[in-house]
Amino acid sequence: MTTPGGLTVSCVAAVARHGVIGNGPDIPWRVPGEQAEFKRRTLGTTLLMGRATYASIGRPLPGRTTVVLTRDPGWSPGHDGVHVARDLDAAVSIADGLGAPVSVAGGAQVYAAALAVPGLVDAQVLTEIPLEVHGDVRYPAIDEAAWPVVERAEHEGFTVVVRWTGARLDALAALVDGPVAAPVLLRGGTHATTLAVRQGDRDLVARWFPPGDEAVARERAVLEMAPPLAPVYVIDGTTPWGPVLVTTRLAGGAPPPDAAPEELAPAMAEALAALHARDGADLPVSSAVAAPPSARSVLVHGDFWSGNLLWDGRRAVGVVDWTGACRGPAELDVAWARQDLVLLGSTEAARIFLEAYERASGVRLGDVPAWDRWAVDRAAPQVAGWATNYAGIGRPDLTGPVLVERLRRFSDSLG
Ligand SMILES: NC(=O)c1ccc[n+]([C@@H]2O[C@H](COP(=O)([O-])OP(=O)(O)OC[C@H]3O[C@@H](n4cnc5c(N)ncnc54)[C@H](OP(=O)(O)O)[C@@H]3O)[C@@H](O)[C@H]2O)c1
Repeated sequence: MTTPGGLTVSCVAAVARHGVIGNGPDIPWRVPGEQAEFKRRTLGTTLLMGRATYASIGRPLPGRTTVVLTRDPGWSPGHDGVHVARDLDAAVSIADGLGAPVSVAGGAQVYAAALAVPGLVDAQVLTEIPLEVHGDVRYPAIDEAAWPVVERAEHEGFTVVVRWTGARLDALAALVDGPVAAPVLLRGGTHATTLAVRQGDRDLVARWFPPGDEAVARERAVLEMAPPLAPVYVIDGTTPWGPVLVTTRLAGGAPPPDAAPEELAPAMAEALAALHARDGADLPVSSAVAAPPSARSVLVHGDFWSGNLLWDGRRAVGVVDWTGACRGPAELDVAWARQDLVLLGSTEAARIFLEAYERASGVRLGDVPAWDRWAVDRAAPQVAGWATNYAGIGRPDLTGPVLVERLRRFSDSLG
């Protein structure tokens, strides 16, 4: 159950038929895309690896901090910034000090050592390579019942299978007071870890937030007001994996990737107008910094973009992620949604959105360009990082540089 410091620990490995992960010091295959997938899944984490694996890579991997295990007190990694640990406990406490999630990156000895510590490893992220290769290094045998599959992502030439410790699902079952089945990790959203499950005849969504995060209490407060298109609050609680909020699962999914922004804009506007019909009187007041004047104070979602709506074709059928909701200026959500449509590729869609919003709400908003400017200034320092969120809704074409360029052009157009 995580490190003593509360960080999640995942074993991340690529495994060929019969559990083969290596041959001598080498990995005996080259499968295009597989290493990129390892990089994507481990970026920003702390890698724990054995001395032999480190030696075969020969350098620390970029974007991750490396901790090498060796019992040899005289061994040196030969690169700055690489930590050295004499045993697994020491490696884990170094990782706790670094504060990032932990990826156990092999080899066989280190996977085995980590999996042998009761409750340490939370997930196994295994890239299954469907090849018969000769190799003398194997991944430890998996007790499939104790490690339910929560994600299976097919790629050309390999499949990534993510298994969670059953203990995490047991904790969820205890909270919702009955066994849960069919767990599926949902993508999108970098703040919370989101799992869909079935309990009896209802579909639920559980979202875990980082330990100590106040998001659960904030979201609970707004969901208890039953805003339109929102999921229904079920229960919340504390688990070793952080605070968790359980709601009903709404139908619908990501916006259809082939839908033009102009097609999404009216549905987004009508959903937002319905939401803004509520005054949000019991919620905390918006703390938006340097905000322009507003014509209307309403229940504000706080992160109203196409990926926080659930879609059935071109229809918006749900709104999720209410952690930023507050009582505040309607223009805040309007500007945020317009900016999303611009990033999706269409300033015309932003115009359609405003027109549809004003028609549906019956309200003419104040200084929209000033609010667009406000939104752009908030987005500028972070927009490159939103590529992950857009990839999560099936838009990998919206890379960091594309988003930066689109925002820059929009900013220029505002004068
Ligand atoms: N397919 C994959 O995803 C993947 C991933 C990683 C590695 N690999 C492959 O796996 C193979 C290497 O695996 P391996 O099992 O032979 O070696 P390894 O686990 O990478 O390294 C073993 C060394 O790590 C140190 N070590 C291991 N456990 C330790 C502990 N509990 N405390 C302190 N030190 C510890 C020891 O170093 P000292 O001897 O210096 O004390 C030990 O000799 C290679 O073929 C590599 O290519 C494959």
